[in-house]
Amino acid sequence: CGIVGYIGYRDAYPIVIKGLHRLEYRGYDSAGVALIDKDLKVYKKAGKVSDLEHFTDGLNTKGSIGMGHTRWATHGAPSDRNSHPHSSGNRRLTIIHNGIIENYAVIKETLLAKGHVFLSDTDTEVLIHLVEDIQKETGLDLREAVRIALNKVIGAYAIVIMSADEPDQLIAARKGSPMVIGVGEGEYFIASDATPIVEYTKNVIYLNDNEIAYIRREDLLIKNIDNTVQTPYVHELDLKLEMLEKGGYDHFMLKEIYEQPRSVRDCMRGRIYPQQGLVQLGGIKEYTEKLKNIDRIIIVACGTSWHAGLVGEYLIEEYARVSVEVEYASEFRYRNPIITEKDLVIAISQSGETADTMAAIELAKEKGATIFGICNVVGASIPRTTHAGVYTHAGPEIGVASTKAFTAQVTVLTLMAFYIAQQRGTITQSKLVEYLTELNEIPNLVEIALKSNDHVKKIAARFKDSTNCLFLGRGSSFPVALEGALKLKEISYIHAEGYPAAEMKHGPIALIDDEMPVVFIATKHSSYEKVISNIQEVKARKGHVIAIVTEGDTDVRAMADYVIEIPQTAEAFVPLLATIPLQLLAYHIAVMRGCNVDQPRNLAKSVTVE
Ligand code: G6P
Repeated sequence: CGIVGYIGYRDAYPIVIKGLHRLEYRGYDSAGVALIDKDLKVYKKAGKVSDLEHFTDGLNTKGSIGMGHTRWATHGAPSDRNSHPHSSGNRRLTIIHNGIIENYAVIKETLLAKGHVFLSDTDTEVLIHLVEDIQKETGLDLREAVRIALNKVIGAYAIVIMSADEPDQLIAARKGSPMVIGVGEGEYFIASDATPIVEYTKNVIYLNDNEIAYIRREDLLIKNIDNTVQTPYVHELDLKLEMLEKGGYDHFMLKEIYEQPRSVRDCMRGRIYPQQGLVQLGGIKEYTEKLKNIDRIIIVACGTSWHAGLVGEYLIEEYARVSVEVEYASEFRYRNPIITEKDLVIAISQSGETADTMAAIELAKEKGATIFGICNVVGASIPRTTHAGVYTHAGPEIGVASTKAFTAQVTVLTLMAFYIAQQRGTITQSKLVEYLTELNEIPNLVEIALKSNDHVKKIAARFKDSTNCLFLGRGSSFPVALEGALKLKEISYIHAEGYPAAEMKHGPIALIDDEMPVVFIATKHSSYEKVISNIQEVKARKGHVIAIVTEGDTDVRAMADYVIEIPQTAEAFVPLLATIPLQLLAYHIAVMRGCNVDQPRNLAKSVTVE
């Protein structure tokens, strides 16, 4: 879901619509705009931003103040009437909102009793009626009414409010949902992230939690919810427009898959010194003493980032010899987890905005743990909340299904594993030299792994009509299998499951018949022989085996239906290479099935609700 706002001297509509297109990657199911040209106009539609554009064809879209929204349904199904903006009863005020107002039901009841009539099932409409009600009862101006209303709500929000009676002002506020303000000359931009803003200005202000911005063409005032004036810090964006375009590829996902030799290299740049056997992570260097004495590492994350965490678990335990637990942020936060001051919590998040991961961090912080972040989006909420961290530097990821962000997260975790090992003395200098020299080659090997594309496409054509698919691996290839399965199900809607290869016989084996494709990660490493036995178990039941193998492999080739070769590398780095063909497989199958690869149904890129 996304928010865009504009106030200035140009026509707001084209800026808002273009901004909504830029935010499409975040995932949504309906869209709407509000503009003021003499009067307030609100247009909204279930469906895509292009449906909204068709709808507004020939309608009045004038006005130099406006805002737009893409909605990802939480309260109330995707429909025209549940789409944002939502207006007050007197139709003078209108609002767009990301997040959830948790106590909306109680507020709604009070308002219903006072005669308010609601046109939608949303929590958002309740909030704007509340503002109207406060104005009516107290006679206060809009600024004050909004502030009082926000003091009454519990939940998370990023909102923008416009009033037909104050056509020179946008009011924006945030608590728990991201909001960026672009500062131009005589104009301001508002958005959920910097992508709609970058083509107009590089100067941005990240609104903090509990801040309200009162934005007029000529000035901007930021106060906190207690009415104290805040001094905003203007950041300069390090984002280039071409990073947000497809650059000749059919889809962002394919572009991002092909960017991986570069993104993995960028992620290691200035951080490894192979000849000296040295890893430097500036972002966490203040904590090196602490790392020597930690008892345990807890990794919290969601989705693909959680899979990266599982790879991290293998690497950190292997090299740094610290016990690691990997937790779904959403589960972790709702238990009464045992956390002490001697624990290190690593939160992994591409967007840096995932609500569950944020909440897990806050909980661990309260209990005194040290928190590191591994994030991709610079300046997002999570990197601003953690004690220290390491950015992945993969560049903006637009495809909803995460690809280059995953390999960058795994790269950072690999660096962290060696870094912690180095501090704790659990790895020898000569081993470090050896590993880092090999790691330094990984971007080139990723490039070679990408050469399997045409071959993978043929395999995709063979299995595109499958209804189920299994992905199996052992050791650190198990999370790779999980990620392979997630990619396929996310974008092709084929049901796919990742499993530890040895666990197959305890359940998934029941599914295997002569229709079932089973993807194995079967590289020549520690459990190679064991995986071969698992492959035979599948073949014995007439399943179709697609195996990711080390180049030159003949044993697996002899029994699998299809093999995809990846270059030889140390076991520690296999996840970085084995992931590549699995991304390509999911991509081609989804394209062949006619799916919307970059914006799969029902998914959102940045899940800012619990
Ligand atoms: C959503 C996205 C996934 C992502 C997950 C966690 O579900 O669709 O691709 O892995 O959120 O997001 P984060 O930004 O925290 O990595």
